[in-house]
Amino acid sequence: MRVLTMVSPKGGAGKTTMAMAFAGEIAHRGQNVCFVDADPNKPLSLWAAQGNKPENIHVITDEDKDGDTIYDSIDAAKERADWVIIDTEGSPNVRVTRTITEAGLCVIPIRASYLDSAQAARAVKLIKDASRQNRRKIPFVIAFTQVKAAIVTKTYKDIGQQIREQVLPVLPVELFEREPLVKMFAFGTTLYGLADSEVGGLPKALENASALTDALIEAFTEGAKTLEATAA
Ligand SMILES: Nc1ncnc2c1ncn2[C@@H]1O[C@H](COP(=O)(O)OP(=O)(O)OP(=O)(O)O)[C@@H](O)[C@H]1O
Ligand SMILES: [Mg+2]
Repeated sequence: MRVLTMVSPKGGAGKTTMAMAFAGEIAHRGQNVCFVDADPNKPLSLWAAQGNKPENIHVITDEDKDGDTIYDSIDAAKERADWVIIDTEGSPNVRVTRTITEAGLCVIPIRASYLDSAQAARAVKLIKDASRQNRRKIPFVIAFTQVKAAIVTKTYKDIGQQIREQVLPVLPVELFEREPLVKMFAFGTTLYGLADSEVGGLPKALENASALTDALIEAFTEGAKTLEATAA
């Protein structure tokens, strides 16, 4: 069982949406996913409550925002899933730090704006501090999201360049801004539960989510190798 934690100290970066794009694809491929909803706004618990989710995606709601129950929630999730995905809130605190220390890979979604690039740096610092505290290198990857499909802007290219210059790992696949990714939450389902007639651009969104999933699995595997190398 593998644990992914979505991290970003900035609200609205796109954590929950990217987590769902990935989970939907993994579930479609026949594996079990268990979310740990560690956001006081409980977006995933509300999503599940609509009653339309696939059977192999579970949601555990972590109730204690101070982090007292988070390890138990993660353990319960590990028991029932091939993939555990922890969704955190948009501001750092003890609970967020604990979810980072439990991760096999931390995913930092960022939008292509200069402001978010600074926020990504804060997320990286959070992960590095947690790594140091735990004497274990916690792998992470930065993932661009809400990228406008029509125009790949100069800002987007500049930020990619800035991040690569800092030698930070960037996922080679970005998640584009598309309507079906919003509709998943309106209907309480994944991309695969949407109908072509209900929403435009579904085939492209599915293709993008599949490529993103492959890239995240690859990043997880690479991270695991780093961990083994450090332990050896
Ligand atoms: N790839 C995308 N395509 C279209 N809309 C998106 C995409 N990613 C995010 N959004 C929209 O942007 C908003 C913020 O996204 P999301 O809730 O995933 O961010 P978050 O990082 O989880 O926020 P929070 O910190 O509040 O939990 C939502 O309205 C969501 O529908
Ligand atoms: Mg969220």
